[in-house]
Amino acid sequence: MKSHLIFIGAPGSGKGTQASRFVADRGFRHVSTGDLLRNEIAKFSVLGLEVKKVMDSGQLVSDEHVIKLLQANIDLLQHQYIFDGYPRNLTQAQTLDRDVLTGSSSVAVYFEINSDMLVERLTNRRTCKNCGAIYNLISKKPKIMGICDICGGTDLTQRPDDKEEVITNRLKVFSETVSPVLSYYEGLGRLIKVDAEAKVDEIYKIITSKV
Ligand code: AP5
Repeated sequence: MKSHLIFIGAPGSGKGTQASRFVADRGFRHVSTGDLLRNEIAKFSVLGLEVKKVMDSGQLVSDEHVIKLLQANIDLLQHQYIFDGYPRNLTQAQTLDRDVLTGSSSVAVYFEINSDMLVERLTNRRTCKNCGAIYNLISKKPKIMGICDICGGTDLTQRPDDKEEVITNRLKVFSETVSPVLSYYEGLGRLIKVDAEAKVDEIYKIITSKV
């Protein structure tokens, strides 16, 4: 089996957008810890109630909560995964190798982007509540405004953490935590970097040519 992919990048760098291409065209499964946490909030589970405030403020949820949720939602014997939004710090990177990916190979892909572009990308992001398709009011409008191209859903919503003041905090948290994660994968010779300021199709081509 081919390597699992680990997408690392700032909020809005395009991890989810690229992951959906890999799912559609290459048969990967996409596991996003952000999506798993948002599902818990939507279900009003104990975990969801606990993490809502943390996520709405742009801080990271505790490592213990996230790893449990991740492990409960993957089956590495059956599928090839894209890990999106995990790991977020060195502990998570080490835990992923030691306790989750034991014996399977993986490559980390870093989405490099200037943070100036990200507030505009994120404040204009809309997501289909029904199927999760990602849109942008500037760069990727749905064909009919307010209606999902994929499933016809009529609820294209804005994430609560896509408000400018929360975005600023998410970007700060990212810049404070990412360096040791990149050094970890670089040291193991398992890091590739892509220019995430390019067009969606170009980024997809670059990643597929490298993994
Ligand atoms: P999470 O859901 O993981 O969010 P994030 O990492 O902040 O990333 P985003 O989903 O915002 O961005 P993306 O890179 O996927 O961009 P997208 O493709 O949508 O995490 C949310 C929260 O959950 C965290 O703050 C934390 O609280 C918690 N959490 C999650 N994981 C955790 C963990 N492991 N540990 C602890 N806490 C955790 O694109 C964005 C927009 O840009 C879209 O509108 C898209 O259309 C557009 N776009 C994409 N690519 C391009 C392009 N090339 N050109 C122009 N526009 C583009």
